[in-house]
Amino acid sequence: MLIAQVTDIHIGFDRGNPEEFNVRRLLAVLRRIAEGPQRPDLLLLSGDLTEHGDAESYALLARLVEGCPIPVAPMTGNHDLRGPLLAAFPTCPSHDGFVQYAIELKGLRVLVLDTLEEGRHGGGFCETRAAWLSAQLAGHPHAPTVIALHHPPFESGIAWLDCDAREPWIARLAQALEGRRQVVGLLAGHLHRPIHTLWNGIPATVCGSSAAPVALDFTPADPAHPDKRAMITDEPPVYALHRWDGERLISHMEQGGEIDVLARFDAAFQPIVQAIAAERPE
Ligand SMILES: [Fe+2]
Repeated sequence: MLIAQVTDIHIGFDRGNPEEFNVRRLLAVLRRIAEGPQRPDLLLLSGDLTEHGDAESYALLARLVEGCPIPVAPMTGNHDLRGPLLAAFPTCPSHDGFVQYAIELKGLRVLVLDTLEEGRHGGGFCETRAAWLSAQLAGHPHAPTVIALHHPPFESGIAWLDCDAREPWIARLAQALEGRRQVVGLLAGHLHRPIHTLWNGIPATVCGSSAAPVALDFTPADPAHPDKRAMITDEPPVYALHRWDGERLISHMEQGGEIDVLARFDAAFQPIVQAIAAERPE
């Protein structure tokens, strides 16, 4: 079971430009997913699908993923708006007005959470959303479950962009997940960098972004004093492949676009493949 995750696409950052940078970056990622050796079972678009939440940008995104041969699961991020998102993806389920839904894959459930709090960059998770999550988890206590949400509920060290771990929505999320042993992983976005940690005992992965990454700098930024530090960098777009093997979730990250091949499985490479195979138990 394979989940492809693409996050923080930010279409419409350069609205009206037919050569929009973020569109080109997304296309490079989608091409890599389509042409790579493995076919994922799901394409998770984990929020910040657009820059401004406008209908035109969602329509463009829907067209770009239209030919995708696997199911597409859109999610909300802080740059999104639920109404236009759902209008562009009419088959996307919602619950109580929130873009929250369960996806049943073979041997794995994915619970898509909606952490959008309109007007805020940071996340939100109200009682209504938490009650839905609790009911979903209580109803399927033995089904291995992945939680997908845009906002990571932990501090990464990139302080200017981080949440504050004391925010009430995080406590609410933690409470809903407490003791739910079927949760095998948490998949997030928002930070525009690939990051891994353990949060309350749950393996948590932040997928690198399709749009331009955030610079890796742990020095606190003083909001009152711009210090000319690097904020956004021009590194290749990234996506994740999360592989569920029935026991654990293994997350791989790869960049989009063309990748140069330096060696192939030919007669020259064969001895190393044979040697490694020979080391395995019968
Ligand atoms: Fe975000």
